[in-house]
Amino acid sequence: MTSIPALPPGPERFAERLIAWQRAHGRHDLPWQATRDPYRVWLSEIMLQQTQVSVVQARFEPFLQRFPTLRALAEADLDAVLAQWSGLGYYRRARNLHQCAQQVWHEHDGIFPRTQQDLQRLAGIGRSTAAAIAAFCFGARAAILDGNVKRVLKRAFDLPDTLTDARLWALAEHLLPNADLDAYTQGLMDLGATVCKPSRPHCEACPFAADCRAHLPGGANLERPRPKSAPRPRRVQTWVLLLARLGDAVWLERRDSHGIWPGLWCLPRHDGIGEALAQAHTFGAVLTQTARPTCLHPLTHLDLRLAPIEVTLTAAAHPAVDDTADHAGWFKLADALALGLPAPVRALLSIIDR
Ligand code: ADE
Repeated sequence: MTSIPALPPGPERFAERLIAWQRAHGRHDLPWQATRDPYRVWLSEIMLQQTQVSVVQARFEPFLQRFPTLRALAEADLDAVLAQWSGLGYYRRARNLHQCAQQVWHEHDGIFPRTQQDLQRLAGIGRSTAAAIAAFCFGARAAILDGNVKRVLKRAFDLPDTLTDARLWALAEHLLPNADLDAYTQGLMDLGATVCKPSRPHCEACPFAADCRAHLPGGANLERPRPKSAPRPRRVQTWVLLLARLGDAVWLERRDSHGIWPGLWCLPRHDGIGEALAQAHTFGAVLTQTARPTCLHPLTHLDLRLAPIEVTLTAAAHPAVDDTADHAGWFKLADALALGLPAPVRALLSIIDR
């Protein structure tokens, strides 16, 4: 068993203080807090994995309107799920969400498992997410440990940055209370997000300020704003996107399940205009070609410079319009907009004239 780090004197009764603080000062109005329904809680936790609370607040209810039950989600086409996820990014989450819904529906009789261990076996649910679902829905004694929680623990207990995750997990588990796991878990999330922030923490509002070593002058764990130096230039990759139009249809290709925008429908991507036009000529005679304004689309690891080139084709284009195509095909604009499209491609297709 991994040993827990030696605890400094105080803060004692960590959980007790955190629970009292959460009840008085934590967040209580987030749309996914009004329920213990595992379907809703699970959906919110997956959405919140890499997306800000404010964005999830806007997207949570519309998703539930489209897929009101686990069954509706499990039986939906992946494309419909990806379309509803459009703009939330990190599309692997949507694929795992769909797979997880199918696992619960087919392998667990439509009922979410109740323990962290069993939840963790499902697609897209890691150790911390499993704990959050188990604690919120079933009051399970399970520890969460995401980036925010690590920061809170390191500061409150003055732990070195070099401490291993295994020891942090051991500490997180050691601190768990015997009851009120939902308030405790929400308290950790709330404290990390609203008070114990990375660079400008609101220590005056913190229930642990009196004992927190990082709060003292010279505290070791306060991440001070870095001295201003020139930001590191981001890697930019240019993608020429072929917007081939045939009457009211556009040509789309489904991206493979790895890399950027996995499984989404996209305009064909090329390294240069010549290559894009060569593909256009394979469809039929090109009537017009127009370069559309480029846009910069930031991803986590690089910026994509998207340069669309629009071509219109004669009616003799090949292959014929077939909106049931599996991996590539002509789609009427209205049908295209119902597919899982990357946000900038959706934006482009939304503004072209019909
Ligand atoms: N981040 C991850 N889970 C969350 C939750 N349930 N509420 C607020 N922020 C979160």
